[in-house]
Amino acid sequence: MEELALHVLDLIQNSLEAGARHLVLTVVEDRAQGVLTVQLLDDGRGMEAATQQRVFDPFFTSRTTRRVGLGLPLLRATAEATGGLAELASRPGEGTRVQVVVYTRHIDCPPLGDLALTVAVSVAANPQVEFCYTHTVDGRSMEFDTAELRSQLAEVPLSDPAVYQWMLAFLREELSKLYGGAKCNEIPSRS
Ligand SMILES: Nc1ncnc2c1ncn2[C@@H]1O[C@H](COP(=O)(O)OP(=O)(O)OP(=O)(O)O)[C@@H](O)[C@H]1O
Ligand SMILES: [Mg+2]
Repeated sequence: MEELALHVLDLIQNSLEAGARHLVLTVVEDRAQGVLTVQLLDDGRGMEAATQQRVFDPFFTSRTTRRVGLGLPLLRATAEATGGLAELASRPGEGTRVQVVVYTRHIDCPPLGDLALTVAVSVAANPQVEFCYTHTVDGRSMEFDTAELRSQLAEVPLSDPAVYQWMLAFLREELSKLYGGAKCNEIPSRS
């Protein structure tokens, strides 16, 4: 995939399909080391150990619409192409954690992409789900938490178009501050 943000979108989709009500997305980038890690935790239905061993196989899927599931195999291929890794740990009935490490200076490392858009769209399309997203760049962090936003918005739903516009602008602004003023979708992943 052309952008890491699209892989994250796929991970979020997997968690939602597994019935998750809470998602915790943590992104940490160390630009001096050229390492970016992404972790997504969910409280979805999880998987048995035997299933977990097969999720990176393209011919394993719980989809009924087609016979292949490409999200995790493509993610692993992207991560490994940079010298990094993608791992998944899960407990049935409890949830799943996916952890990805990419080396951003590798020529095959895709750009981060528009993570603000990924998160804002995911929240707006799933207003009943709680998302907590933290992003750290070189030790400086921003946090976005729907629980907090929900309490401030009172009766206005997270799916409201005005809320979506606000979330997108807020996240883009915060990310741009973390990356030192670059527009979020122009963030160079290789420094
Ligand atoms: N967070 C998760 N919780 C529970 N099961 C998961 C989770 N993520 C993946 N899985 C299981 O792993 C399978 C493979 O996931 P993968 O993203 O590779 O493919 P897919 O989602 O089935 O299809 P695609 O990503 O191509 O739309 C899923 O069908 C699902 O059974
Ligand atoms: Mg998927």
